[in-house]
Amino acid sequence: MRVIEQKISTKRGGEYILRTIMKEDAEAVLNFRRDVAGESPFLIRYPYEIENSIDKEKEVIGNYLRAEHLVMLGIIDGDRVIGLTSVSPVGLAFKTRHRATAELVVRKEFWNLGLGAHLLDIAVKHAEDFGYERLELNVFADNARALRLYKKKGFIECGQIPQAFKTMDGKYHDEVIMSKNLWKH
Ligand SMILES: CC(C)(COP(=O)(O)OP(=O)(O)OC[C@H]1O[C@@H](n2cnc3c(N)ncnc32)[C@H](O)[C@@H]1OP(=O)(O)O)[C@@H](O)C(=O)NCCC(=O)NCCS
Repeated sequence: MRVIEQKISTKRGGEYILRTIMKEDAEAVLNFRRDVAGESPFLIRYPYEIENSIDKEKEVIGNYLRAEHLVMLGIIDGDRVIGLTSVSPVGLAFKTRHRATAELVVRKEFWNLGLGAHLLDIAVKHAEDFGYERLELNVFADNARALRLYKKKGFIECGQIPQAFKTMDGKYHDEVIMSKNLWKH
């Protein structure tokens, strides 16, 4: 789905465009995904595991654009993506399609400026508008920055998967499942 472009500001007063990711952004999205995978230990893939070709990424973006209950949004700085969020269903079967999951990533040089908070607000808003009843986020248990942000935005911890992630240094990291109820009473 496409949504209306908007301007957002950082805590330091910088202004950026937040808009729907289009097929033409495929290369910038792949560069973003590789860069952030190298910058943060809290993403599932290592940079070499971001394997999509530009054409494959265009296809993925096309799916997000076509479907009514999916959205991929980026914060754009010139020709660079500096933050990205997407909302998609946990599963398409009847019993799971009321639940959405979101991804949320910001380039390291822009951390702590409030961009993550903007992205999460917009992900929650679209998940609500799409009619999802819950929005879920899966987080490394040692990702204090993300946990603080999610709790601040009303997500609650629903459980942990022990040793969910194993990193190349041989260490294990638990996964925390965070969820927010989107029912409007
Ligand atoms: C998690 C992430 C999206 C947050 O984005 P961001 O733009 O830095 O988020 P914000 O600036 O809106 O908020 C960060 C909050 O964490 C706080 N924070 C910073 N460092 C922290 C730390 N070590 N421990 C706890 N909180 C911390 C900040 O003070 C801020 O809270 P505040 O607004 O109440 O002061 C970003 O750090 C990121 O992309 N990380 C790598 C990928 C990732 O972990 N994604 C989440 C996967 S679920």
